[in-house]
Amino acid sequence: MDKQLIVGQTLGFSADPFAVPLAEAAQVDTRGGVLVVDGRIAQTGPAEDLRAAHPDATLTDCGDKLLSAGFVDAHVHFPQTAMIASWGKRLIDWLNDYTFPEEMKFADPAYAQAIAARYFDLALSHGTTSMCSYATIHPASVEAFFTEARQRGMRALAGKTCMDCNAPEALRDTAQSAYDHSRTLLERWHGVDRLSYVITPRFSPTSSPEQLSALGALWAEHPDCLMQTHLSEQVEEIAWVNGLFPQAMDYLDTYERHGLLGANGVYGHAIHLTDREKARLQEVGAALVHCPTSNTFIGSGLFDMAGLKGAGHRVGLATDTGGGSSFSMLRTMAAAYEVGQLAGNALHPAQLWWLATEGSAAALGLSGTIGALRVGAEADLIAIDLASTPAIAQRAATAENIWEALFPTIMMGDDRAIAGVWIGGTRI
Ligand code: GUN
Ligand code: ZN
Repeated sequence: MDKQLIVGQTLGFSADPFAVPLAEAAQVDTRGGVLVVDGRIAQTGPAEDLRAAHPDATLTDCGDKLLSAGFVDAHVHFPQTAMIASWGKRLIDWLNDYTFPEEMKFADPAYAQAIAARYFDLALSHGTTSMCSYATIHPASVEAFFTEARQRGMRALAGKTCMDCNAPEALRDTAQSAYDHSRTLLERWHGVDRLSYVITPRFSPTSSPEQLSALGALWAEHPDCLMQTHLSEQVEEIAWVNGLFPQAMDYLDTYERHGLLGANGVYGHAIHLTDREKARLQEVGAALVHCPTSNTFIGSGLFDMAGLKGAGHRVGLATDTGGGSSFSMLRTMAAAYEVGQLAGNALHPAQLWWLATEGSAAALGLSGTIGALRVGAEADLIAIDLASTPAIAQRAATAENIWEALFPTIMMGDDRAIAGVWIGGTRI
């Protein structure tokens, strides 16, 4: 039995701080501890009590560093790692000019492997311990992602991105091959160690009705799998979808009429939703993923966090690398705060932190498994230095409570703030 006690300043949540008062939702212990037994959290509480009860546990003392569940990035494109921060385009031109040429390189399995390794190293150095990623249309890109995640012992989710139209010839599959390759990958990887396969039509414009239906059929055969796609990201995109699917009521309906709407559906962006779409998403209990650095970078619009959370939607937070401009969930929280401010709603630091951990985990159907500093959860943990740069340190020095101490790191922090990362209880 591997038994370790990690102590520091602990931050965890027992409830959603959007739904219940902060004092009830968040638990902060300036001298707290996490007892980890065989990769899972076995106990939390005051450090000294845990030490006295478990003198045999290996001790790691993180001092005044903040101990938290690792970040969960609910929507990322690992193949876009090498083209992040490409200048000056809106969504459709950005895809055609930057994204598709880069994704074509994944026809080479060695390139896919190299980028997957690079991506995981970057994600972990930024404190992201789990993610849900799109791959490319190439099955080898999924192999590369899962192989690298498995080697690192991570809980990770991904799927082959399916496209059979409105994309370059070299990036097109067919309805049948999308179904066949997705099914083969699903059967090979879903549930292996900590890995999950996600059925992944890229978005309605790049899938024919036949392909959407084929993937809807695959989902019906494997309803425990997540299905991820993009929804209502940009106004030009929505106009394009309306032209391509004249029979559909709206963008969401292009998915629903092909069997691609459900509680295990994870819809990225969801910015320009109609009232009908919001009501329908809410009715089926689907998850929405806010990608704020992407939404500002590509110029997509302002996600209605207050309205959607207030109405009870399940919402996660994500980088959307490389449409997003950062690998950092800290930077992503900062952008979520800024987008909230532009929409007239200042998100509390606790709400931002919850979104980046528990909220994203819940959006991926992994509530209580990851993203939580709670008994029974997998011990994917991070230690945060709340004074990682001189600018942050001088602001945090006058903080009067944990939230004031944390907010400068949320707004100005990056990978320098990540002082420790544990995957399944193993420090990396
Ligand atoms: N919509 C379809 N594909 C993509 C993508 O790769 N990134 C973003 N941000 N939006 C998309
Ligand atoms: Zn995306």
